[in-house]
Amino acid sequence: MSNIIQTVIIAPPCLDEAARCIREGGLVVFPTETVYGLGANALDKKAAAKIYTAKGRPSDNPLICHLASADEAEKYCETNRLYYKLAGRFMPGPLTVILPKKKNREGTYIIPDTVTGGLPNAALRVPSNEIAHGLIMAAGVPVAAPSANLSGSPSPTALRHVIEDMFGRVDVIIDGGDSEIGLESTVAAVFENEIKLLRPGAVTVEDLQTVCSNVTVDRAVFEKFDGIPLSPGMKYRHYAPRARVIMLDGDDPEIYSFLSGKQKCGILCYDEDKVLLERPNTLSLGSKSDHATQAHRLFACLRDLDDAGVIYARMPSRKGLGLAVFNRLIKAAGYEVINLRPGQHN
Ligand code: TXA
Ligand code: MG
Repeated sequence: MSNIIQTVIIAPPCLDEAARCIREGGLVVFPTETVYGLGANALDKKAAAKIYTAKGRPSDNPLICHLASADEAEKYCETNRLYYKLAGRFMPGPLTVILPKKKNREGTYIIPDTVTGGLPNAALRVPSNEIAHGLIMAAGVPVAAPSANLSGSPSPTALRHVIEDMFGRVDVIIDGGDSEIGLESTVAAVFENEIKLLRPGAVTVEDLQTVCSNVTVDRAVFEKFDGIPLSPGMKYRHYAPRARVIMLDGDDPEIYSFLSGKQKCGILCYDEDKVLLERPNTLSLGSKSDHATQAHRLFACLRDLDDAGVIYARMPSRKGLGLAVFNRLIKAAGYEVINLRPGQHN
C-alpha cells in the first residue's frame, strides 16, 4: 500500500479519540467477543471503502454493521417476529443476522451499497464486548467492520495479530487483550419462519433450533461450492496461513502411523494425542471434546505454525461449536482432506 497511515494504539477506558475517528471517516480496529474488527462509519460510503483498501479485500464481499442495541435494526432493515425472538435470546452476542435493507424517503438504501457489496440485504450484529459496545455508543453511528486481518489470513484474536496485519493501515487500534471466543460470529439469514445458517459460530445450530424449528445449514459450510453462495465470504479461501493446511480424517492408529512417516511438518492435534505432542511444531487445540478451547486457540495456532510449510490438522467434531472449528479448518485447508479410515480412499 502506498499511503502509510500513522497508527495510534490506545487502551480503554478512554474511547473518545477512537469514537471521533469513526465519526470523521477514519478506521479503528476494536476488540469484540469473537475476533478483532476493522471498523468505520457504516453510513459513510467513503469510510467504508477505506476498509476494503486496508484489508486488500474484494469489494463484493459485504461487511457486518455493528449496532449498539438489537432495536436499532429497525432503522436500517426490515425486521420480523423471528428476528426479535433471536435478538431476545442471543443479542448482544456472537450472532449476525441477514435482513432486507430499508430505503429512506428518497428511495435509496440507508446502509450504502458499498457496505453490503451491492446486495439488497445487510448483516447486523450487536457485540457484547464492553469496549465494542462503548465505541459504537460513543461514535453514535453503526460501525461497519470485517475481521481486522489482511484478506486471506486468519482473523486476529490477539493484539499482536492486529499489529502484524494492520499497523500503518489504520488510524487507531484499541487494545482489548485476547478475544474471548476466538472465531467469528454465527451468520444466519432470517426469514419469516426459517433460519438459514451461512457461517457457523458460537451461537450453534442447536441454539438456533431452540428458537425456530426450521433451521437449515448452507452447504458451503461443509464443502467447496462453485455456485453463487448466499454469503459471498464463503467463496474465498479464508483463514489460511502461508503454510499449506491438510486435514487428516481417521482414528489414532492410522493418524499416528501416517504422521510417523512425515518429517518437518506442523501438526494441529488434541491434548489426548500425547505421542504427537512430543514432536516439534506440534500444537494442541485443547481436549477433543472441549470445543470452546479449540475455537479460542485455532487462529493463533494457525498463525504460530505459519512457517511450517505443511500443517496436518486432525479432523474436529462437528457437534455444537465444533462445527465452526471444522468449517474454519476445512476452509484453511482449501477443502483438502486425506481420509485414513480403513477401506476409504481419497
Ligand atoms: O465475529 C464477526 O462476525 C467479526 C467481528 C468483527 O464482528 N466480523 C467478521 O466479519 O467476521 P467478516 O467480514 O470477516 O465476515 C462477515 C461474513 C462474510 O462471510 C460475509 O460474506 C458475510 O458475513 N456477509 C456480510 N454481509 C452479508 C450479506 N448482506 N449477505 C450475506 N452474507 C453477508
Ligand atoms: Mg473475515
